[in-house]
Amino acid sequence: MKIEVLTLFPAMFAGPLDESIVGRARTAGILELRIRDLRDWTHDRHRTVDDRPFGGGPGMVLKPEPLFEAVESLRGPRTKVILTGPAGRVFTQQIARELAGEEHLLFVCGSYEGYDERIREHLADDELSIGDYVLTNGALPAMVIIDAVTRLLPGALGDDLSATDESFTQGMLEYPHWTRPAEFRGWSVPEVLLSGNHAAIERWRREQSWRRTAERRPDLWERLRWQQPVRTVPNRPSAAKAGADIGAGSADAGKNI
Ligand SMILES: C[S@@+](CC[C@H](N)C(=O)[O-])C[C@H]1O[C@@H](n2cnc3c(N)ncnc32)[C@H](O)[C@@H]1O
Repeated sequence: MKIEVLTLFPAMFAGPLDESIVGRARTAGILELRIRDLRDWTHDRHRTVDDRPFGGGPGMVLKPEPLFEAVESLRGPRTKVILTGPAGRVFTQQIARELAGEEHLLFVCGSYEGYDERIREHLADDELSIGDYVLTNGALPAMVIIDAVTRLLPGALGDDLSATDESFTQGMLEYPHWTRPAEFRGWSVPEVLLSGNHAAIERWRREQSWRRTAERRPDLWERLRWQQPVRTVPNRPSAAKAGADIGAGSADAGKNI
């Protein structure tokens, strides 16, 4: 997959996208990443990309000319142009999966007060928000989305199954994990995980997943009940009874940890 980013702050991308899974995906040729400086598409001495808003008000607005010129020179027939902005669709794991199937993504990072509306209306294919808060510019949102998408590309994770067994993939939060030692400061690992009984472990983990989702994300739980055949999703337990209703594993099983 090819991902390009148009930004006023290319230096912000050094580091986060060079390390870990994204860094390895780039080295392995799974991801081709290009960070572009929007000012390279300006033609005046000051490399101007913004101007005052018509109608007055605080702040500056990104001008249409450099952005249209940049996007039109970079995009191909199968490019998806995505603006980052708080007014966009809220980014989810489902959207990450959709984007991972694309050939070429071109992210546009806003700055200042945002974009001239003609950019939104006539240049972008989509606009994504990473949550209900306002950041200084679109570099961090673009990096968040690129990270989530890259780890879904075939071969990016050491074990591709890791991505199918995670929070949000089945619409639920993931079950809790433990590792060695089996006992630490008197806190022990749930016995079922040491049993070697794979069917029991799988059942227990599914129950833990349900319980955690019911307790922490009732919104996800309700959505699941509408989407799944009724018999596969148990009734949502009240938070207080959750540990008793659905497989309490360890002494800490009912805690919000
Ligand atoms: C200061 S923000 C502009 C906020 C805008 N005036 C508003 O109230 O919606 C500047 C840029 O940061 C990026 N940005 C800020 N918060 C974001 C979020 N939650 N999700 C995605 N992008 C965001 C966008 O690219 C945006 O154009």
